[in-house]
Amino acid sequence: MHAMRMRSLPVLLISLAASGAWAAKDSCFECHSVQEGMSIVFKDDIHYKYGISCADCHGGDRNEDDGNVAMNASRGFKVRVAREDTPEYCGRCHSDAAFMGKYKPGQRADQAALYRKSVHGQQLAKGNKKAAYCVDCHGIHNIRAVDDPESPVHPSRLAGKCGACHGEIARMFQQSRHAKVFTTAGMAGCSVCHSSHATEAAGVATLAGAAPVCGQCHRASSAGGRAAAIMTKKIAGLAPAAQAEAAREAAHALSLAP
Ligand code: HEC
Ligand code: HEC
Ligand code: HEC
Ligand code: HEC
Ligand code: HEC
Ligand code: HEC
Ligand code: HEC
Repeated sequence: MHAMRMRSLPVLLISLAASGAWAAKDSCFECHSVQEGMSIVFKDDIHYKYGISCADCHGGDRNEDDGNVAMNASRGFKVRVAREDTPEYCGRCHSDAAFMGKYKPGQRADQAALYRKSVHGQQLAKGNKKAAYCVDCHGIHNIRAVDDPESPVHPSRLAGKCGACHGEIARMFQQSRHAKVFTTAGMAGCSVCHSSHATEAAGVATLAGAAPVCGQCHRASSAGGRAAAIMTKKIAGLAPAAQAEAAREAAHALSLAP
């Protein structure tokens, strides 16, 4: 972690110097640090640490002390971003591999593309305001590196984050044998089986179909693999109406395991 920071630092300095952002004025940050009712705590956000500040997302003119000028549409200021436009908004930088590479060499730039195809992205596009979007999982103004223990998507906290919307499933999972071993091994709660940005619709076939998700980690001959086979068989023996419920409990609570 620290070694990686040190390696990327010279690159960061060069790119900041090139953009003229180094030690530049930042009236937005200054005013909003103290502005009553509109104070924004931003100093722990990973963007701030990498020299990305308010105007890089919201537009406006960071060199102006007068709020009416700094936050004027004529200076590129945009008041709000609609929920459904957020993947584009964040993806402006995060889908640009060359841009991201200047800050963190090798950083992935596929989050918005994967997200748009995911069940959450599809639901958002259809107008479902309850579907998770970038800000639900990562926050606003307090966004952390994903390996920062304070990040809501850090492996130790992810089940709680997904559980904010999928509460019943998270409770089942937290009591399972998996939850204990995943914690010890530093494995993320939900995304190991469902992915983070490429989450697909899940059903009985995810557990009991031709390519069950369990096979990613358990060989058929292992204890987990044999358990998965037994669970599948038990589910196949149920009436169709009961299968989905049983599969949900089996996958998350490992309830039908021997
Ligand atoms: C002199 C203080 C001051 C400066 C400088 C300033 N702001 Fe503001 N900002 C405010 C105040 C006060 C409000 C709330 C009232 C309003 O909307 O004008 C606000 C509102 C906002 C909002 C919310 C708008 C909304 O309607 O929800 C955003 C976003 C914002 N500022 C970003 C910025 C950015 C980006 C900059 C720099 C380009 C900046 N501010 C510079 C004081 C300031
Ligand atoms: C990484 C992009 C990003 C950066 C950097 C950023 N913001 Fe925001 N900001 C957002 C998003 C996304 C929202 C929520 C959507 C919206 O309301 O537009 C938001 C909302 C806001 C709001 C209105 C919501 C509220 O809390 O009342 C204000 C005010 C604001 N930002 C000010 C700032 C200031 C000041 C800074 C710098 C200290 C800053 N932002 C830095 C992305 C960013
Ligand atoms: C359902 C929750 C969720 C949503 C929605 C989400 N993310 Fe993530 N994101 C995660 C998790 C969990 C990780 C941790 C790495 C992993 O397991 O893939 C992550 C990692 C990241 C990273 C670090 C690099 C990487 O890919 O690992 C970036 C950058 C990122 N997300 C940006 C975004 C953007 C931009 C959006 C919106 C288009 C978004 N995320 C939507 C959960 C989410
Ligand atoms: C102006 C460009 C820009 C915009 C817009 C932007 N980001 Fe970032 N983001 C960066 C840079 C640069 C970094 C630091 C390098 C890195 O960590 O990949 C970063 C880092 C991150 C990380 C931490 C990745 C890691 O290293 O673990 C997350 C998560 C993230 N951004 C999410 C978002 C979300 C969500 C939005 C939209 C609300 C957004 N970003 C908008 C440029 C941007
Ligand atoms: C802000 C709320 C919210 C958060 C946070 C959230 N989701 Fe979702 N999720 C939804 C909504 C809404 C749907 C679509 C409706 C539904 O099927 O429940 C959905 C759908 C799903 C589906 C498909 C369900 C199906 O019926 O096939 C899976 C799997 C899923 N989410 C997993 C996750 C995982 C894993 C995380 C964390 C990385 C997560 N979700 C975080 C709201 C959320
Ligand atoms: C060991 C792999 C695994 C883990 C870990 C896991 N899931 Fe699942 N999940 C599955 C399988 C398999 C299914 C399909 C079973 C079914 O519901 O028919 C599923 C189904 C789902 C569904 C759809 C349920 C429905 O009503 O159809 C959601 C939502 C979901 N999981 C969310 C989560 C969340 C949130 C977490 C973390 C708390 C999580 N999962 C952890 C394997 C997993
Ligand atoms: C991301 C990797 C991963 C996935 C995917 C996964 N498991 Fe596991 N599972 C583990 C680990 C690690 C253990 C603990 C070590 C072991 O027993 O192999 C474990 C243990 C188990 C155990 C306890 C075995 C015992 O020795 O008592 C069962 C049962 C189990 N898993 C079933 C499943 C089922 C069913 C699925 C699919 C829904 C699944 N696992 C998916 C990693 C995974």
